[in-house]
Amino acid sequence: MRTIKIFDTTLRDGEQSPGASMNLREKLEVATALVDLGVDVIEAGFAIASPGDFESVREVARVVCGSSVCSLARCVESDIDAAVESLKFAKQPRIHVFIATSPIHRDYKLKMTPEHNIDAVRSSVTYARRFCPDIEFSAEDATRTEIDHLCRIVETAINAGATTVNIPDTVGYATPTEMYERINNLFNRVPNIHKAVVSVHNHNDLGMAVATSLAAVQAGAGQIECTINGLGERAGNCSLEEVVMAIKTRRDVYNATTRIVTQKLVPTSRLVATVTGLKVPRNKAIVGQNAFAHESGIHQDGMLKNPTTYEIMTPSDVGFQKTDLVLGKHSGRAALADRAKTLGFELAGEQLTKVFAEFKKLADRKKNIYDDDILALIEQNIHEHPDNIDNNNWSLTAYNLNCQTGKEPSIVLTLCYKNKNYTKEIAAGDGPIDAIFLAIKELTNTNISLKEYNVQSVTTGQDAQGEVTILINKNNNTYRGYAVSTDTIEASATAILNAINRIQNEE
Ligand code: KIV
Ligand code: ZN
Repeated sequence: MRTIKIFDTTLRDGEQSPGASMNLREKLEVATALVDLGVDVIEAGFAIASPGDFESVREVARVVCGSSVCSLARCVESDIDAAVESLKFAKQPRIHVFIATSPIHRDYKLKMTPEHNIDAVRSSVTYARRFCPDIEFSAEDATRTEIDHLCRIVETAINAGATTVNIPDTVGYATPTEMYERINNLFNRVPNIHKAVVSVHNHNDLGMAVATSLAAVQAGAGQIECTINGLGERAGNCSLEEVVMAIKTRRDVYNATTRIVTQKLVPTSRLVATVTGLKVPRNKAIVGQNAFAHESGIHQDGMLKNPTTYEIMTPSDVGFQKTDLVLGKHSGRAALADRAKTLGFELAGEQLTKVFAEFKKLADRKKNIYDDDILALIEQNIHEHPDNIDNNNWSLTAYNLNCQTGKEPSIVLTLCYKNKNYTKEIAAGDGPIDAIFLAIKELTNTNISLKEYNVQSVTTGQDAQGEVTILINKNNNTYRGYAVSTDTIEASATAILNAINRIQNEE
């Protein structure tokens, strides 16, 4: 049985998803979770892209132990130098060099002949290999590259010292059969192919990324590049949780395994959804809330008689912790910490104190506190508002809002900043949220515009909390804000302030 390497690119390709950018603290948290999950390689970023990217690769490389850490680089010496420098503290560094190889990219983007394309691969892989024994080479847009040229490219990369050769379906165009044939062709035609691990990196434009990755495994690929929740450019990348569970559940077909601790899939998915603000759809395979929910009477009957009638894997296999336990007003700190731990979050010290204080406030407003309420409290207090612990940022003190049909709303808003209250009264806006937004803008004196506003309920029931996610624009940059409350107006104001605090912390 072969062990397929899992190369996670959530922090690089995943972070390229619109709205998914993460700060350094969030990237380190995700990197630590990926190590615990058992991924073989963590692509931490593209070191040359920006000073922020460089710093995150360097810090991830510094903390990670147990997985390789990789930085992306174009076939350019300065890119490779930046990657080498950023990986200085990595215990197991990997440099990932890439160049586009397809005629479309060679002619229009690179303006390069096929011979120059091959020379660039030879010289840059040779250069990178001087600094690092673990070199991955990627032929960008490999699935639209002439097969003869691709074979020469792969052979050249391996001769120059590449230890992994990656065949990306950059635009998500290949069918599973085509991918199988392409990998099979490489195994049959490239003489030195067995000296390297063959990898795939498939995008999901036609919804086939997982299927093409599995087809590549059947043809002999030994590494899959993927992301948590399938994040990535455009429609995303192959989803880690789906491809791993397909290999595990259909071992009879793939005759392969991975090092992934599958019970950590759901907590890792939740963490990534929390820090990126990109929520997982309820019906998403493996990690969606409905992935194991059986609604129809016939299905429920079957499940009661024997779960295997409708379940091909168990919820606990992927890390869903089934519980009927509901917390409430009388639940203590230890019960909350225990529940949070089951949900994948270790709360202690100041963090536990903060979440417990908010939990108590919530319990006064809401009788039953469910797992999703606890997750939302953790998200709001630990991930989204970590700096609010020292009261140095803007927070909501009080609001008094007056709305009438056909009239402009009026609001008296009081915000706290560095322990001092500031009040503003305005009558403006085309609704209560707009009025709050305008009042906050004036009080905080920030030049922002609201790009997206989203509200949904955390659980069911009349006393459910409203969860508000917003995107704000400032100087062409987008900032995320998040908050929950049983009072949706309060949640909206707090989400806006959360985004403003992010802006101010970055400035
Ligand atoms: O999609 C792609 O081709 C990539 C490469 C850089 C591996 O992300
Ligand atoms: Zn990609």
